Formats: sequence, C-alpha cells, structure tokens
Amino acid sequence: MNTKAILFDAYGTLFDVNSAAEKCKDKIGDKWEVFANFWRTTQLEYTWLRSLMKRHKDFWKITEDSLDKSMKVFNIDMSMKNDLLNLYRVLSPYPEVKEVLENLKKRQFKLAVLSNGTPALLNELVKSNDLDNLFDDLFSIEEVKIYKPDAKVYDMPINKYKIKPSEIVFLSANTWDVSGGGNYGYNAVWVNRNNNIFDNLDYNPKDEINNLSQLLDLI
Ligand code: LAC
Repeated sequence: MNTKAILFDAYGTLFDVNSAAEKCKDKIGDKWEVFANFWRTTQLEYTWLRSLMKRHKDFWKITEDSLDKSMKVFNIDMSMKNDLLNLYRVLSPYPEVKEVLENLKKRQFKLAVLSNGTPALLNELVKSNDLDNLFDDLFSIEEVKIYKPDAKVYDMPINKYKIKPSEIVFLSANTWDVSGGGNYGYNAVWVNRNNNIFDNLDYNPKDEINNLSQLLDLI
C-alpha cells in the first residue's frame, strides 16, 4: 500500500462509546451494557434515517434524542440524562490509542479523524484526552451535512489532501463504516475489538485487526 494518510473513525474506534454508561453503572445497574448498546444503535439509526429523509440534525442533538428514547425504553431515571450526556463529551480513548498515534506521527503520515461528530465534540474529545497535537485534521460531517456512509463524507480528505482514495488507510471498528469507506475506494481496515462477524455489503476489509497497535505491523 502506498499510504499517504491514515484516517480514523472516532466513536467506537478511538473512543469507547460505552464508557459513558459504564461510568454510571452503579446507578443504572446490570442493564448498563445492553442499554449502552441500544443507545448507540438508536443513535446510528437516526443518522441514517435523517440522511435518507434529508432532515439533518447535528450529531450532538441526535445523541441526545437517541439517549432520551433509550432511557424511556430501559426505564432509567431521567435525572441522569445530563450526567450521561456530559460523560459522552469526554469519552475515554482505548488504552493503545495515544502510543499508536505518536508512533505513526513520527513516521510522517498525515493523521486525521473522519467522523459524524460535530467539530466542537471532536475538538473536546481530543483535547480532554490530550491527543490534540497528534492530528493534522478533524474532518466532521457537519461540513457536508450528511452522515456516513454518504460518499460526500469520504470525499472530504481526498479534496483537502489531493490524494487518491487508494492512498488512504481508513480504520473503523464499525463494520458498516468499513464497508462505506471501502466501497468508496479507501483501503479500509476493520478494528474488530470484540470478535464480531463482518457485514455482507460488497466489501471485504483490506485487513482485520483486534486493536490499533496491530496497525503498526501493517504499514
Ligand atoms: C463516527 C461514528 C460512525 O465517529 O462512529 O463517525
């Protein structure tokens, strides 16, 4: 692979989306993990549905709307809503993230985030986790006002860096996002953290790794 830029999905790939609910697990109880998964699935469904309906709302509002529904479904006390939302702003990165980014940065690759998150959310996530000096760009879908996997999203780094899709390695833990970026033309690598099954959406991942450290052996 003639790699010039390495792009990372944010939620689920660099940052643990379940960490907000996990930090409240004493109050939520044993159902915290099914609840967190339902919240995430509903959030993603809203991104796809809003894109198809052409009724864009930013990712922060969608995160709140999906949280509201999920709390009702799981009978969680609404007084916890603000706590959960505030924790979502400062999600924890996976343990290997910083070291891997530092290593790749030394090797002179362009490094960027390509995410559904708003610019404000992405800035806060990287700042609160002391990762802000490691990225060249934080590409947010707010620039094109449509969610992944629309090709306009995957176009953004191509237009900015003036490189070919095949010169990009794209990392995502979300199978559908790997299919989206891969069908677009990126070398899409699946970060399969939980030993899941891949999708049937016309693309096989260029590679499959269990965590981001294994990326260092691929490029
Ligand atoms: C993102 C979602 C898909 O960061 O995880 O774009």
